[in-house]
Amino acid sequence: MHAKVVVVGSLNMDLVARAERLPRGGETLAGDSFFTVPGGKGANQAVAAARLGASVAMVGNVGDDAYGQQLRQALESENIDCQAVGVCAGVSSGVALIVVDAASQNAIVIIPGGNGLLTPESVQRFDALLQNAEVIICQLEVPPATVAWTLARGRELGKTVILNPAPATDPLPRAWFAHIDYLIPNESEAEALTGLPVNDIDSARCAAERLREWGAGKVIVTLGAEGALFVSEHGSRHFPATKVKPLDTTAAGDTFVGGFAAGLACGLEEGEAIVRGQRAAAISVTRAGAQPSIPFLKELAP
Ligand code: RIB
Repeated sequence: MHAKVVVVGSLNMDLVARAERLPRGGETLAGDSFFTVPGGKGANQAVAAARLGASVAMVGNVGDDAYGQQLRQALESENIDCQAVGVCAGVSSGVALIVVDAASQNAIVIIPGGNGLLTPESVQRFDALLQNAEVIICQLEVPPATVAWTLARGRELGKTVILNPAPATDPLPRAWFAHIDYLIPNESEAEALTGLPVNDIDSARCAAERLREWGAGKVIVTLGAEGALFVSEHGSRHFPATKVKPLDTTAAGDTFVGGFAAGLACGLEEGEAIVRGQRAAAISVTRAGAQPSIPFLKELAP
């Protein structure tokens, strides 16, 4: 079976502490609970795409440690093709230190480990996966040269190319935009990419239009509780969010991206694919952790 969705990105073990509030600089804070779960933006998006209807392959790296074995097993248990998940000798797996507060906000520090060693050559070795894909997804937790190569190769092959520019702190190289069919930033990422303030639907539209002027095909700005704004050559459309009581927003964006990609790969039109991603993300925020929070297609309201 060919994977319709190929994710080129990160795998992290998430070390999650819950506390009443996030600690201030220099402060030691007693928390409420601790758990360890598989995460990483790339792996989360792969799991979301698989649970939400697509056949999926992952391209990435883990270290030669116990976390690496667990991260790979977590994907294999979802029937995700892991032939392109490499093991880097003498390097740790990616790790994310996450604190979640009582208001469900989080703060995350990532240590790239093996993710930082994913080279363009290591993706090129699995070019057959890209050739057989319909949708290719990248994020920014692996080296920029690898993201750049993958976007360009995806465009060359005529695939649907999605970039979730997360985490983003700076503008992207302008040359990348022409290779992107769907650019999916959240508010702070849209702000970092454009330098424009993004805090509501109108400002999200301005930022999305700027990103389209620079060459991105279509832009979806995810706005948390305010839903998502889709901007294309035909104008903009706001998709309101389902109202839920959030417990943990970790991986909500990943769930949206994976669900949207799965929807496209399953032949949905893009508005329907956005709704699939949104419904899945709304469920994910009511559950703790990254991959354990991602729902299956049968859990989504029809
Ligand atoms: O998007 C959520 C993810 O960000 C977490 O799973 C963590 O690993 C970090 O990469």
